[in-house]
Amino acid sequence: MSAERTVVPTQVGIVGAGPAGLMLAHLLGRAGIDSIVVEKRDRDTIHATHRAGILEAATVRMLTESGVDGRVLTEGHEHEGTVLRFQGESHRIDFQGLVGHSVWLYPQNEVFRDLAAARERDGGDVRWSVRDTEVVDLTSDRPGIRFTDADGEDFEIRCEVLVGADGSQGVCRRSIPEHERTDHFVEYPFAWFGILAEAPPSAPELVYATSEHGFALISSRSESVQRMYFQCDPDEDVDDWDDERIWAELQRRVDGPDGLRLEQGPIFDRTVLRFRSYVCEPLRHGNLFLVGDAGHTVPPTGAKGLNLAFCDVRVLAPALVDFFGTGDASGLAGYSATALERVWKAQNFSYWATNLLHAQPGENPFHRKRRLGELRAITTSARGAAYFAESYTGWPED
Ligand code: PHB
Repeated sequence: MSAERTVVPTQVGIVGAGPAGLMLAHLLGRAGIDSIVVEKRDRDTIHATHRAGILEAATVRMLTESGVDGRVLTEGHEHEGTVLRFQGESHRIDFQGLVGHSVWLYPQNEVFRDLAAARERDGGDVRWSVRDTEVVDLTSDRPGIRFTDADGEDFEIRCEVLVGADGSQGVCRRSIPEHERTDHFVEYPFAWFGILAEAPPSAPELVYATSEHGFALISSRSESVQRMYFQCDPDEDVDDWDDERIWAELQRRVDGPDGLRLEQGPIFDRTVLRFRSYVCEPLRHGNLFLVGDAGHTVPPTGAKGLNLAFCDVRVLAPALVDFFGTGDASGLAGYSATALERVWKAQNFSYWATNLLHAQPGENPFHRKRRLGELRAITTSARGAAYFAESYTGWPED
């Protein structure tokens, strides 16, 4: 540690340069508000971290209308529907026909790349690869972030508002005293085994499949790279699975009389993703505001994580613009309650869709048949399907 800490003032200090932190910094920059973002990882590591790939229309609009980049429109793929597959049959949910919305398949790591490039283009201050990050004086009007930068120099950012965008394992949420927050938490007895494979697409839209062997999701990254998942034990060891075994497992979960065959190819990435649902209430402590995974986590089934993070930013950014523009703090005062309304709707959908599509370990025939009954009720009724379509594509702005 060097002898002196360099103190840097700014208006908004942001911990975490994932999509939520960078999007907030971008919107603030456009409104003439200064921010500094600190991030413990380097850009390449974040870019190589695979996350879900579905963007709601409102998320796409945020990227395009705020001038981040148009790549999502040229390289992403619009999906006007998705497939729920059970008992070996595919049932298409027609998003456009039911609710007039689409989603876009565009991986989260590409969203990150676009946002990081936009910050660089616009001269945004982002400190990558910092360590020993600490947030201090959260309830004062001059909260701070202390860290050591990539060259070993010690810094202290002093700001008026501090934003925790540092994910579920970050320091910000943990800095809120336990008696000042409630942690709502659910764990699931299963996980996803995720793969990336060099192969052509197996289906034009995503396929969410449930079978007596468990859940599988057939997604895509490009014409030559596919993303697929199958339900597994949370303690599954990826080294126990060679390509042949993985393809056999995925195939048997989508098998059916229509003869759907997965296009196979070399698998070059395999990871086990554990499932959790989590909400921190409130999303504010003094002058610290939590956004995205720092404040809430959803299981990946509903593809809500990034979209929900952007919803938080859509509430917080205008509140900060009001605060710095006119001194009006009412938006900041309402941030937590407003953001949490949406968060709990998405928590419900993610939890519901997860339990609808996954077999509980040792599930008895009654529970399995009940789930199939519910899937049939959704897929054979325009109203049932519209509930799924509206939740999946994103609720209208309220
Ligand atoms: C993905 O493509 O990685 C993906 C898509 C939809 C989900 C989850 C993950 O619900």
